[in-house]
Amino acid sequence: MDIVVRSDEIEQVLFDAEVIGRRVGELGRLINAAYVGKDLVVIGVLKGAFVFTADLVRRINIPIEVDFVELVSYVTETETSDEVFLTKDVKTNISGRDVLIIEDIVDTGLTTRFLIDHLNIREPASVEVCSLLYKPARQRVNVPLTYVGFKVGKVFVAGYGLDYAGKYRNLPDIVKLRGVD
Ligand code: PRP
Repeated sequence: MDIVVRSDEIEQVLFDAEVIGRRVGELGRLINAAYVGKDLVVIGVLKGAFVFTADLVRRINIPIEVDFVELVSYVTETETSDEVFLTKDVKTNISGRDVLIIEDIVDTGLTTRFLIDHLNIREPASVEVCSLLYKPARQRVNVPLTYVGFKVGKVFVAGYGLDYAGKYRNLPDIVKLRGVD
C-alpha cells in the first residue's frame, strides 16, 4: 500500500494530530460561548480548510449551518498572486445572519480580505474569521482574526488539508517538507 508521505520527505512536524485536535477543541469551546443564541453560518474555504472545517464543526454544539466557498490565489506551488478568484460561491442565505469564515491559513491575508468584502455585499449581521494557522510575517493586508489556532513563521506548511503541489492534504499532521520553503 502507498503511504501518504515518506518520513524522509518531512523535515519537521510542526503540529501533530493530537496537538491540533486539542486546539480545535479549544476553538470550538470559544465559538460555542461566543455564538450562544445567534444564527450562525459557518463557511469553510476550499480546498485547504476542508479538514479543519470538518473537525471544528463537530466541536461546535450550537445549531449552525455549514457552507463552503472555493477561492484560488496560489499561482505556483508555494507562491501566491495578488489576484483572488472565486470559483465556488456560498449557496446559503447569509443576509442578517452571523457568519464565521473557517480558513486553514491566513498568509498575505488577500484571500480572506477578498472573501470578507464579497460576503459583506449580502449584509450579514456579522463576519468573523477563524483560521487554524496565521503567518503574521507574511501579512500584507489587514484582516480581523477573531480565532487563531497557531501562529507560524515564514515556513511553507503542508498537511491537515494544506497541500504542496496538490498533495499531502490527507496527512494528519502539519509539517514542513524537506527542501520546500
Ligand atoms: C490557500 C489557503 C488560503 C489562502 C491563504 O489557498 O487555503 O485560502 O491560500 O493565502 P493568502 O492569505 O496569501 O491569501 P490556496 O489558494 O492555496 O488554495 P487551496 O486552499 O485550494 O489549496
